[in-house]
Amino acid sequence: MFGQEIDLLKNYPKSKRDTKGRANVITEADREIARQYGKDFFDGDRTYGYGGFSYFPRFWQPVVPDLKAHFGLNESSSLLDVGCAKGFMLYDLQQMIPGMTLRGLDISRYALENAKEEVKELLTLGNAKALPYEDNSFDVVMSINTIHNLEENECAMALREIERVSRGKSFITVDAYRNDEEKERMMEWALTAKTIMHVDDWKQFFRDNGYTGDFYWFIP
Ligand SMILES: C[S@@+](CC[C@H](N)C(=O)[O-])C[C@H]1O[C@@H](n2cnc3c(N)ncnc32)[C@H](O)[C@@H]1O
Repeated sequence: MFGQEIDLLKNYPKSKRDTKGRANVITEADREIARQYGKDFFDGDRTYGYGGFSYFPRFWQPVVPDLKAHFGLNESSSLLDVGCAKGFMLYDLQQMIPGMTLRGLDISRYALENAKEEVKELLTLGNAKALPYEDNSFDVVMSINTIHNLEENECAMALREIERVSRGKSFITVDAYRNDEEKERMMEWALTAKTIMHVDDWKQFFRDNGYTGDFYWFIP
């Protein structure tokens, strides 16, 4: 069995990215700071990451109906978000599909401490490469732009972990490219990622590591 390549985030607002501009200013030292996933990454200068990571309904609210339809979510479904950051997607799921069992996990203590109050208690500090949940714990496991932040061998562990804790449905997005032009832009833009591949190599990597969930790409 193999998952579907599907853009479940097609209704997430798009932003125009000046990849060349970013490439010209970012240093290895900046990457090191970004990779601490602290205040600098979320709410510091743009050089280190988001340059301000705040809740806006216009981000995830348009995506929830697509998630609901694709996964058949209802009040009795359970979902884990790996790399949940401040829990914004979980909050919109909670609002739009009340009663769902929701959990989030992130490596960032800062993000969890500054998470949206309504979902704070659903979030756990941890690493995608070793999920602290039993086998088959969740109907759906999602991980958006997160597991590519691990080195390839640990990224493989994260794929296996997502597969293990999900009861069969999952969705991930990862940094990727489809041609040389996209590769160049990706390399200019990527700040924290350690595993970036051509989409065909990702698909092979999913197969090699037994990942049977759905997937799509982050291409700046
Ligand atoms: C680009 S952000 C995406 C956040 C959120 N999923 C979203 O789409 O808005 C990547 C997130 O992954 C988290 N992260 C990075 N490495 C991780 C790891 N090994 N395990 C769990 N979370 C990780 C970061 O702290 C950050 O919150």
